[in-house]
Amino acid sequence: MPKRSIYDLNVKDKRLFVRVDFNVPLNAGQISDDTRIRSALPTLQYALDQGASLVIASHLGRPQGERRREFSLKPIAIRLSELLGQPVAFATDCVGPDALQAIEHSGKNGVTLLENLRFHKEEEGNDPVFSASLASLADCYVNDAFGSAHRAHASTTGIVPHVTDAAAGLLLARELKYLGALLDNPTRPFTAILGGSKVSGKLEVIKNLLPRVDTLLVGGAMSYTFFKARGLSTGRSLVEPDLVNATREIEKEAKIHRVNLILPCDHLVTTALQADAAHENLDVEATDIGDRLGVDIGPKTQQAYANIIKESATVVWNGPMGIFEISPFSSGTLAVAMAVAASNGTTVVGGGDSVAAVGQTGIAHQITHISTGGGASLEFLGGRTLPGVEALPNS
Ligand code: 3PG
Repeated sequence: MPKRSIYDLNVKDKRLFVRVDFNVPLNAGQISDDTRIRSALPTLQYALDQGASLVIASHLGRPQGERRREFSLKPIAIRLSELLGQPVAFATDCVGPDALQAIEHSGKNGVTLLENLRFHKEEEGNDPVFSASLASLADCYVNDAFGSAHRAHASTTGIVPHVTDAAAGLLLARELKYLGALLDNPTRPFTAILGGSKVSGKLEVIKNLLPRVDTLLVGGAMSYTFFKARGLSTGRSLVEPDLVNATREIEKEAKIHRVNLILPCDHLVTTALQADAAHENLDVEATDIGDRLGVDIGPKTQQAYANIIKESATVVWNGPMGIFEISPFSSGTLAVAMAVAASNGTTVVGGGDSVAAVGQTGIAHQITHISTGGGASLEFLGGRTLPGVEALPNS
């Protein structure tokens, strides 16, 4: 069901409460990746151009209802001001007199960023009184926080009944458009590439995608649970014993849906999770890796996966192919990133490591859509309803 969009709101001379996801990585108070801030700019700039005043709210990290300095949004106000090219007032609280004072001070067509919503436990508790306090700060509400749309919190769902008008922001709409098309009407051939450490983290996504994709390429440590089920050598690689049967079911389901489920044919094995540890590429079948562990897909797999990606009209990728953070074990993930970026088809990438890998290729702009939602995109692709989207009025 299409949701009411910010384009449907009359925001001229109104105070607009915008829930964004500015949960960005911070290193000693410095923003190490501002993608999520940049991704909210189209909505913020559009509303400002329409003559609105902005009251912007976000969470940062998981401060568990406590006011903790390392989770303050203050550094983000500075960055946002640089990106918008105008002053951004910072309110030291997200509700009450401090919030109101900062908003009033920022004036007509001004911008105020509220302090971390999660400094109040009522945010995650979806407390109705807290929701009403947030709503009282503005005339209407826009949710542009796709990354938090899987959370039913005061600022994502509870606030909606307390505002006179509510709508989806441009980022939220874009995410739903591209992720929704993967589930509803993907251009074929459609290939999903799933990696990461655990089958358990991707089980719902695999089950939901199997009836939809033509090919499923598996990589990362989750391959080893599949290998175990096939009776292959896994050494000390990460295997989820409880999920071995689930992988057998997935293989059966893949056959039923005539999906090419492809596992790595070779892999990089190492003696330890250290860059200087001895490592070599080995074929997966008929090789005993002893007490070593697999940490990346091998060159033959990289080539095979790149060929399939090249032939695909739609590609979705979530999860690294190996222990990407350790440089000698990152080549499989980077090779997939390059192949996805080089594709002429529609390409969608989600998940922190995959997005970071695409960033390292320097050709991220060639990806059709890079999702800002980690957990949210997985839940969406897993077929779940996102409460933050559900709460918004239909158009
Ligand atoms: C994310 O980074 O995935 C979102 O900001 C949600 O954060 P959370 O998992 O702490 O709710």
